[in-house]
Amino acid sequence: MVETKYETVLVGNENGLTTITFNRPEKRNAMSPQLHRDMYALLSELRYDKDTRVIVITGAGESFCAGQDLKQYFLEMDSQPERVRDEVRTLSRYWRNEIIRTMPQPVIGKINGWCFGGAFTIVTACDIAIAAEDAVFGLSEVNFGNFPGGEVTTVLTEQLQPKHALFYALTGNTFNAKEAERIGLITKAVPRADLDKETMAIAKNLLGKDPVAVKAVKEAWYYTFYSNPDVAYEISGLVSQRVNARGRPGIQQFKDKQYRPGLGAYKWEKK
Ligand code: COA
Repeated sequence: MVETKYETVLVGNENGLTTITFNRPEKRNAMSPQLHRDMYALLSELRYDKDTRVIVITGAGESFCAGQDLKQYFLEMDSQPERVRDEVRTLSRYWRNEIIRTMPQPVIGKINGWCFGGAFTIVTACDIAIAAEDAVFGLSEVNFGNFPGGEVTTVLTEQLQPKHALFYALTGNTFNAKEAERIGLITKAVPRADLDKETMAIAKNLLGKDPVAVKAVKEAWYYTFYSNPDVAYEISGLVSQRVNARGRPGIQQFKDKQYRPGLGAYKWEKK
């Protein structure tokens, strides 16, 4: 179990499910340099945590995340030495755009409220994103005389259609979770009263799955997404070799009529 205390995030663990809560509600959970340091360190630790089989990321209070901390990440950073600016920018990018997708565990974003600007890349990085119907999303950068910088535009052009994302980047209009679901930014919008229950149902489903298989699903998906088809096919073959090096216990159990794979997961051995 993760012991370390973090300044800007709360960490809880129950029965294999680790919940990370951005904990700057008084600043609407905006991402400060310290939050980037904390998330980078925490995720690097959780990757190896045997008690963590599924991760949920959410926000304290009424906000999921109000994007980059406009004062600490931008205004105050401008006067920092280049070394510090580079360090913070690198950590900021890594935990959202590299680490989450290469975590062996599935990561669920539970969007409980405000979600602006840079916070979109947390949502897109999570493997699954579920939001309260009245959560408010917005690419507000244009409203403060800027544009979705860093990796925000990169990620949005990868994952969304221009008639959706470019529209919101240009107008800065806010939209709700139903609209976020329609444009493919999130997996599902649910009534606020059901957010915890629905997130838990997804987490429980994932906790019931063979972690080797879950990791393989993620690897196959993201390497395919970022590769050309020939390379993706080879990587799929390598992942397959590794998964099947332990035999095919799930198929064996099917052969022995122990379960129906169409309707649920096989009994895998906890390591
Ligand atoms: N960066 C730094 N501080 C932020 C912040 C951000 N992105 N978002 C909110 N805060 C701070 C405010 O400065 C204020 O701090 P203060 O009490 O010390 O003055 C506090 O959080 C509460 O903000 P407030 O605007 O009063 O809350 P609200 O609930 O009325 O509105 C938002 C919430 C999110 C709509 C509004 O704060 C906002 O527009 N934030 C900026 C969002 C944004 O453009 N993000 C993109 C960054 S890439």
